[in-house]
Amino acid sequence: MVHSKNIPWHMDAVFYELNVRAFYDSNDDGIGDLHGIAEKLDHIQQLGIDCIWLLPINPSPLEDDGYDVADYIAIHPDYGSLEDFDYLIQEAHARGLHVIVDLVINHTSDQHPWFVESRASRDNPKRDWYVWSDTDQRYGDTRIIFVDTQTSNWTYDEQTEQYYWHRFYPCQPDLNFDNPEVHQAMFDIMRFWLDRGIDGFRVDAIPYLYEREGTSCENLPETHEFVRQMRRIMDEEYPEAIMLCEANQPPQDVLEYFGDGDECHMAFHFPLMPRIFMALRSGDSTKIRTIMSETPHIPDNCQWCIFLRNHDELTLEMVTEEERQWMWEQYAPLDEMRLNLGIRRRLAPLLDNNIEKILLANRLLFSLPGAPIIYYGDEIGMGDNIDLPDRNGVRTPMQWNDGPNAGFSNAALEDLYAPPIDDPVYGYQQVNVVNQQDDSGSLLNQMHSLIALRKEHPVLALGTLAFIETGSPSVLGFVREYGDQTVLVFHNLARRLQRVEAYLDEYAGQQPQNLLNDAQTFHPIGAAPYRLSMAPYQSLWLLLNGERN
Ligand code: NOJ
Repeated sequence: MVHSKNIPWHMDAVFYELNVRAFYDSNDDGIGDLHGIAEKLDHIQQLGIDCIWLLPINPSPLEDDGYDVADYIAIHPDYGSLEDFDYLIQEAHARGLHVIVDLVINHTSDQHPWFVESRASRDNPKRDWYVWSDTDQRYGDTRIIFVDTQTSNWTYDEQTEQYYWHRFYPCQPDLNFDNPEVHQAMFDIMRFWLDRGIDGFRVDAIPYLYEREGTSCENLPETHEFVRQMRRIMDEEYPEAIMLCEANQPPQDVLEYFGDGDECHMAFHFPLMPRIFMALRSGDSTKIRTIMSETPHIPDNCQWCIFLRNHDELTLEMVTEEERQWMWEQYAPLDEMRLNLGIRRRLAPLLDNNIEKILLANRLLFSLPGAPIIYYGDEIGMGDNIDLPDRNGVRTPMQWNDGPNAGFSNAALEDLYAPPIDDPVYGYQQVNVVNQQDDSGSLLNQMHSLIALRKEHPVLALGTLAFIETGSPSVLGFVREYGDQTVLVFHNLARRLQRVEAYLDEYAGQQPQNLLNDAQTFHPIGAAPYRLSMAPYQSLWLLLNGERN
């Protein structure tokens, strides 16, 4: 569906990422399911979301929570059936909600029939669907991603006495994209889901499709050529569907995944995310300014996806070694809070459960260019459970109410796929949707207002970005402009009051109104420096009422 303002829908969408397993259990087996999501669409719609991103839904041994696919064209029996999927899409679309799903293209599960065949013998017709080698010394310049548990990207297969290549766990063998049959298989899978009416894919682990000796085996030209082929199919057959690129890479490398507007429609902005946390903890805006200044211009039909947290560890791959150590000291004081090169905690605990800081982080996100993504549960400030292994601590049941199992399931507690958070601070008895619906000052209601404001003022989604000197490193100031709309944005990242002095002569004569406070009117801008005093963690979104001078 093309947007009413004549721009593609993804350009100003707000996304909601959810784990089917964790959202709502409609059949009392202790595991969330597709029908459960359909029953809870009110919550998502009322929040103001435009697009739901579903984490993997395919049959899988779940050794990497579904990122190990065993059958691409079916639904995991825990989550329901293809009919349930169709029903969810129909119900979501009826409410104007788009739905995208994960497309795990780089690798399959070792249980996938393709791999079962491939490893059966060296002359099996599927042998060449994966990357096999007599030695584990090839592609030695390739980094290891799961550094806590893996020492090599190769695993030895006893039966056929060769090694196979995998960028993630050994149970996730990489497909061989040098084989055109693999391309065709992926195109068929894309069409299968697009024909069922989905609105696009979040394309998993996109940089790793090809391997070439002497390179990092990431972002290779062949990979881009394949992405362009995927895009051609989408443009020709499903022109309204999108591809959202997961490439945890520096901005210049991610830029390539937009191509000339002929690769992905969207890409996550990985480097911005940790810098928001650095800025919030240090009370210094410099790192956000720097990374946004280093963020290249992207083609007009493309958009960044910006986020604070997701289902993985808070990744620190896109920071320096020194910054990583600092982030770990600040945000992951206990060893068990760390995982690989990241931090396995949720938003609220990271920000000391301080609603002012949580809101500031979200106001930052909702005022910077890009489409924001909310990770399920962060809209109510859910906590995490670091006693659960791997990334499971941030994938616990959604907390709907203070009833048994947080209202997530009617199954017995011991039958739940994971226990709901049940501690004095973040437990479902306190932190739940129902409690917050009734409280106008709650995080949930304030998130709703933020999203509504962004919808009312397209400049926040689509406007250009230019930084303003504020006279204080703690205050991030910038202007967003779109058509005849201008918003001046200031965020005080510090826990102390700050004085702002900004030179805004080009807007002299205009009367700012603070969108964040019922259009409260501010003194007019003049030729002299504009002076403001900002409370700790305060934000101002000042809408101007006239033309620039
Ligand atoms: C990125 C996903 O976000 C992560 O959860 C997964 O483990 C890897 N890709 C491998 O598919």
